[in-house]
Amino acid sequence: MHAKAQPIRQAKPVHLNDVLTANKKLLAWVNEIAALTRPSRIYWCDGSDAEYDRLCAELVSAGTFKKLNEKLRPNSYLALSDPSDVARVEDRTYICSEKKEDAGSTNNWVAPVEMKATLNKLFDGCMQGRTMYVVPFSMGPLGSHIAHIGVELSDSPYVAVNMKLMTRMGRKVLDALGRDGVFVPALHSVGAPLSAGQRDVAWPCNHEHKYIVHFPETREIWSYGSGYGGNALLGKKCFALRIASVMGRAEGWLAEHMLILGVKTPEGKKHYVTAAFPSACGKTNFAMLIPPESFKQQGWEVTTVGDDIAWIKPVVDEKSGMEKLYAINPEAGFFGVAPGTSYETNPNCMETVKANTIFTNVALTPEGDVWWEGLTKVPPAHLTDWQGKDWTPDCGRLAAHANSRFTVAATSCPSLDPQWDNPNGVPISAMIFGGRRSSTVPLITEANNWNEGVYMAATLGSETTAAITGQVGVVRRDPFAMIAFCGYNMADYFDHWINVGARVGNAAPKLYCVNWFRKNEQGKFVWPGFGDNMRVLKWIIERVEGKASAHQTALGNIPDYSDLDWHGADFSEATFKAITAVNQSQWQQELVLHDELLTKLAYHLPAALKARYGALRQSLAV
Ligand code: GTP
Ligand code: SPV
Ligand code: MN
Repeated sequence: MHAKAQPIRQAKPVHLNDVLTANKKLLAWVNEIAALTRPSRIYWCDGSDAEYDRLCAELVSAGTFKKLNEKLRPNSYLALSDPSDVARVEDRTYICSEKKEDAGSTNNWVAPVEMKATLNKLFDGCMQGRTMYVVPFSMGPLGSHIAHIGVELSDSPYVAVNMKLMTRMGRKVLDALGRDGVFVPALHSVGAPLSAGQRDVAWPCNHEHKYIVHFPETREIWSYGSGYGGNALLGKKCFALRIASVMGRAEGWLAEHMLILGVKTPEGKKHYVTAAFPSACGKTNFAMLIPPESFKQQGWEVTTVGDDIAWIKPVVDEKSGMEKLYAINPEAGFFGVAPGTSYETNPNCMETVKANTIFTNVALTPEGDVWWEGLTKVPPAHLTDWQGKDWTPDCGRLAAHANSRFTVAATSCPSLDPQWDNPNGVPISAMIFGGRRSSTVPLITEANNWNEGVYMAATLGSETTAAITGQVGVVRRDPFAMIAFCGYNMADYFDHWINVGARVGNAAPKLYCVNWFRKNEQGKFVWPGFGDNMRVLKWIIERVEGKASAHQTALGNIPDYSDLDWHGADFSEATFKAITAVNQSQWQQELVLHDELLTKLAYHLPAALKARYGALRQSLAV
């Protein structure tokens, strides 16, 4: 626990460099927050490589970073967090709208006045003894009509260097902001003030209080007490999903927990596909998919636009004059799950993190490189684990934390799509939703139409993962993989989706539901997954092009064994049937869970979804 710091007798913080803006609102806000939090120093991030190197060197001196072996992992670092600060804290995350019903039944809510009073107390003097970093960032390509600017004030240099990799960050953003531009203010503190002469720890955080707070009406973010991931890198979940979902609803666009990938067919036609899977359910892997050899020989190519977030907007298509959905990746880097990543499961990802990467909570080899579960079949004989302890394969502990991650710039990715940075975004042909379900949900289902697809996404269920604090492996409803990220009432969000679909009409992408995670009686995954997911993706593209067939079921359209390309695979028709069957009794049980969700979301629930639930009950004879 951190005791309240003794006040440091210092009237004004020292400015470590020149103020880099003349934006009046920004200057006023920085002054206001400096007066509240009383940092010892203020530093304006310019986003240069020299600055990145200098801050990393400072993090090494402070003991937060360990520099990895320059030969094995050039220009890369390892950070080990406090063992209590390892994932997003959903129970400490709040949507503080004026009215409780606007946050909805799936979000924590406190009245804004009350929450501001709590936060003002916590932030009072919370940066004493520390440097406040002013981190200007753009979510999306600078100058894009889909992009937006934010500024994070943080007392964590770890945040500053991660933001350099994850976003377009620094002086160029302030130049674009100009004197009068608007930005989303995002305030962050680790909540660990230092009194005069007090020694810092390697990973400061607050063990008593954590608050990840969003004020949707004023579009502000206040985050206190954690230095980890989505709790602290505020451009990501806080801005690009929770606040942006609110902006999107007001302005007619969508902010989604989705990867974006490109698919080139053997005929040379390019499609873009988005996919929403809950945290640690395979977005990074799918976004960087390498097709099986036989598909590559046919000419199929997959490229990466983004691995976590998509901002999607109706845009007039020049050729047809019709509105179509276009997507950008608002981020510029990946904060990806390390465990399970290997040259077998995700070679593109392994190439991406070969250098210039920050690793958090993975294990360290005696040679000064990194290791995590799944990286190699045979673990090294000896490691330093994510808590800095000696580790051997028989010690009974994980070497890397299950939510250990890498931070790396998108430009390091060999499969990066040539259009990834296009300010107009890429046109979307299909959208996929999926969760981790060991039973019930078929490998692949196509919705008959937009609204049936919205129902599929709205009722998505998934087993929880280590990406959040709390119990792992329990099935919970995770509508659109947005349960933790929707900044307003979830039922209103469904309605917004229905409206966006109606607006683009026939130009709307086709909607799909997938499940890579079916298990057999022995508890083993049945579907090979990873590169083999290409077999399903190819079928989706061929459906979009009107080339592939399927059979109708109560849930939607499902391929027969013969509808998929099995070149180079050893997967039996019987097993395929087992993981694509609609099991009536399982689905009758599943509908009970749908009913629970729809009851919870009854306030403002769109009629179209109620109707679809009724139709499913009928066709499944519930
Ligand atoms: P966030 O960054 O938390 O939003 O997650 P993500 O959806 O990007 O997760 P990621 O792609 O990093 O997947 C994490 C875990 O899913 C790893 O342990 C992978 O091994 C596993 N995984 C990914 N794709 C597949 C698949 O096709 N089949 C199976 N069985 N596991 C997969
Ligand atoms: C997730 O949990 O969905 C992530 C990781 O993408 S974090 O940025 O920590 O939220
Ligand atoms: Mn995510």
